[in-house]
Amino acid sequence: MNKKFLEEKGALITGGATGFGRGVAFEYAKRGADLVLVDIKEKELEETAKEIKNKYNNKVIPIICDVSKSDQVDSMAKQALEELDNIYILYNNAGIAPHYGLNLFRTGEDEYDLIMNTNLKGQWLVAKALGKKISRQKSEPIAGKIICCASVVGVTPNSALPIYGISKAGVILLAKILAQDLAPKVTVNSNSPGFHVTPIFNNDPDILKKMLREGYVKTPMNRLGTVEDVVKLMIFLASPASNFITGHNFMIDGRIADVGIPATFLKSKI
Ligand SMILES: NC(=O)c1ccc[n+]([C@@H]2O[C@H](COP(=O)([O-])OP(=O)(O)OC[C@H]3O[C@@H](n4cnc5c(N)ncnc54)[C@H](O)[C@@H]3O)[C@@H](O)[C@H]2O)c1
Repeated sequence: MNKKFLEEKGALITGGATGFGRGVAFEYAKRGADLVLVDIKEKELEETAKEIKNKYNNKVIPIICDVSKSDQVDSMAKQALEELDNIYILYNNAGIAPHYGLNLFRTGEDEYDLIMNTNLKGQWLVAKALGKKISRQKSEPIAGKIICCASVVGVTPNSALPIYGISKAGVILLAKILAQDLAPKVTVNSNSPGFHVTPIFNNDPDILKKMLREGYVKTPMNRLGTVEDVVKLMIFLASPASNFITGHNFMIDGRIADVGIPATFLKSKI
């Protein structure tokens, strides 16, 4: 495969300041993409954009935007379409995680609204603002690719992360519906990471290990996930190698989808 398969292509990454979004941004830039990075964390967003620009000399435009607000999303989309020649990749990735352990009955309405509005409504708003425009782009055979970030707990119920899980289950279905609506010009898939060390967990492996211990969760692959694990899948989903794949959810979880199995069941150390 051409190492620069994203040359002359644009990629818009929400939640691009840190974590998966930042990691993916570097790798897409390395493969030739110009970038729009969207986030609410102004300082981190500026830093990430600057670092990528200095390293690869691509166009990298940071845009401050709260993806849960339709007016902000609409003006972000307008600016992004003006800045980039095309938006070939949309990585719908911005998201928040609540405190682990707050069950469904203890979750307040404000917490529910915040999680659902950021994680699910946010992806819907961004896809709504850009999806049809992406599908009308001229590149062949595919006009663009949308990748939505879901989660293992959107597939396997985890009552310690109830509303977060519901929001991510919604994301998986959102991607499948978008895949139907935008075929045959745009592929749309989602990915479901497991438990990865990123700023969403303060970059602290101990927080993740505690969560796994308390939930009696074992990881058959016997380690925590990394940003790089997700980045590798995201390169595949952005590449021509995945042009015939649409409407699917990709687990990238070390088989942790077995959430809830007793700790003694598997011989792993974490
Ligand atoms: N780290 C994991 O183990 C894990 C597992 C499954 C899914 N995820 C998902 O991965 C995605 C990326 O998370 P991450 O782990 O890289 O953590 P992260 O906190 O580094 O990245 C999330 C980014 O989204 C941004 N964001 C939050 N609310 C926003 C809003 N309203 N508008 C715009 N940007 C906003 C944050 O500022 C942050 O930069 C999220 O959707 C998260 O739910 C993470």
